[in-house]
Amino acid sequence: MGINILIVGSGAREHALTWKALQSPLTDTVFCAPGNAATGAIAINTGLQATDVEGIVRFVKEREVGLTVLGPEVAVAAGLADRLSTAGRLVFGPTRAAGRIESSKVFAKSLMNRAGVPTPAYRVFDNPASAKDFVRGERRAFVVKADGLAKGKGTLVARDAEDTLECIDMLMLRRTVGAAADRIVVEEKIEGREVSLLALVDGERILPLAPACDYKRALDGDKGPNTGGMGGYSPVSFFGPEAVERAVASVLLPIVQGLRDEGTPYRGCLYAGLMVGPQDIQALEFNARFGDPEAQVVLPRLETDLITLLEATAGGDLAGLSASWTTRSSVGVVLASRGYPGTFTTGYPIEGLGTIERDVVVFHAGASADPSGYVTAGGRVLTLVALGDSMAEARDRAYRNVDRVRFQGMTYRRDLAQREVEAPALR
Ligand SMILES: Nc1ncnc2c1ncn2[C@@H]1O[C@H](COP(=O)(O)OP(=O)(O)O)[C@@H](O)[C@H]1O
Ligand SMILES: [Mg+2]
Repeated sequence: MGINILIVGSGAREHALTWKALQSPLTDTVFCAPGNAATGAIAINTGLQATDVEGIVRFVKEREVGLTVLGPEVAVAAGLADRLSTAGRLVFGPTRAAGRIESSKVFAKSLMNRAGVPTPAYRVFDNPASAKDFVRGERRAFVVKADGLAKGKGTLVARDAEDTLECIDMLMLRRTVGAAADRIVVEEKIEGREVSLLALVDGERILPLAPACDYKRALDGDKGPNTGGMGGYSPVSFFGPEAVERAVASVLLPIVQGLRDEGTPYRGCLYAGLMVGPQDIQALEFNARFGDPEAQVVLPRLETDLITLLEATAGGDLAGLSASWTTRSSVGVVLASRGYPGTFTTGYPIEGLGTIERDVVVFHAGASADPSGYVTAGGRVLTLVALGDSMAEARDRAYRNVDRVRFQGMTYRRDLAQREVEAPALR
C-alpha cells in the first residue's frame, strides 16, 4: 500500500510534479486539484480549485490523502497549508505567514535586511508623490515593485529616472496590478546574471535542488514584455556546486533561520531569485513554491525518489537526505499562443504530440481535451523538455521536437540556452 498524493494546481509545473510522483514506488494514487487534461490522462483530476481550502481539506480526509503538494502561490496565500496541518495532514508547502516571503515584497526585503542577506538597497512607499520625490532627488533608474502578488506583472525595471516616475504612475495611479501596488518597493537596479535556486526546506534544514535559468521576457534577446516564463534550462554553467554552497550560506540559511526565529518556520520549496555579479550573489526575490518553468527542467534531472524528499520536507525530517541529479542537461521550451502575455485566442487543435522522440517530455498548461485530441486553452500551452548528454544536445533535441508540434498561432523563443552552447568560455 503506497501513499495517496494530491497535487494542487493546474499548470505545466503541476503536470511535471504529477508525472514525477507517478514514477515513485511509494505512490499509490495521484489526485490533482484541479489538474488539466493531460494530468487527467495519467492521474485523477478532482475538479477542486486550488484555492478551495475547505473542499480540499474534506477531500484529503475522505480519500485518505497522505501528502498534499502545493503548486501555485494562490494556494499558499489562501492558507491551505495552515488548514491541512491543523487537520493533522501532511502538507508540502508553507503556511500563509511563512509564504509572506513571496506574497509581500516589503516583508521579504525587510527580513533580508534583518537577516543580513545581500540584496539591493530599497525604500518603501505607500503614496506616489513621496516615491516620485525620492526618485527626482536621486536622478537615477530604479526597479519599482508592487508589494503584493501580481502574477509577474508587479515588477517594472526602469531605463532612467524619467522612466522610473512613469513606472510609479503605472503601478500606483493607473493601478495596473490593483491593490497589490498600494505599497511599492523602489529598489536599486543591479547588473549580473540571473539564476533560480530552489531548495527543499523542512523548517530548519535546507536541501538545494539543481540550479536553473528561466527566461521571463516574451521575445528572443530578452525583448518584449514579462511573462510567466518562456522556458529554461538546467544545470547552469556559471552557477556550479561551489556557488550553490555560497548561496545557501549567504541567502537561504539566514532566511530560513529568520522565519524560524519569528515563529513562522518555512516548510516546502523555497525559491530564491538570485543575481550573480563578478563579486557577489544578491537576492532579488523569493517565491514560496516550485518555479514554473523551473520545475519542468529540474524534476526530469532528479534521480532521487521525489516522494521520499517531499514527505521528509513536509514532516520536518530532511536530516541525512540528499538529492542526486543526472549529469545530463535539460532544456524546456514553452509553446505559447500568439499574443501572450497580452490577448490571444484559443481552441486550436494541437498536432504532432504523438511523434515526440525519446528523452523528450511535454508538460501541459493551457491545453484542454476534446474528442479529437488536445486543443489550446491558454497563453502558455505546453512546456516541451528535452534531455541530452550535453546542453547542445538537449537544445538541439528540444527544438527538433518543437518542430514536430503544431497549433495555430504557436510561438516560442528560439534562443533558450543558446548562451550556454555558444559561450562556454564564460564558465
Ligand atoms: N534590483 C534589480 N535590479 C535589476 N533587475 C531586477 C531587480 N529586481 C528585479 N529585477 C528584474 O525583474 C525581474 C522580476 O523581478 P522579481 O523581483 O523577480 O519580481 P516578480 O517575479 O515578482 O515579478 C527579475 O527576474 C529581474 O530580471
Ligand atoms: Mg521573479
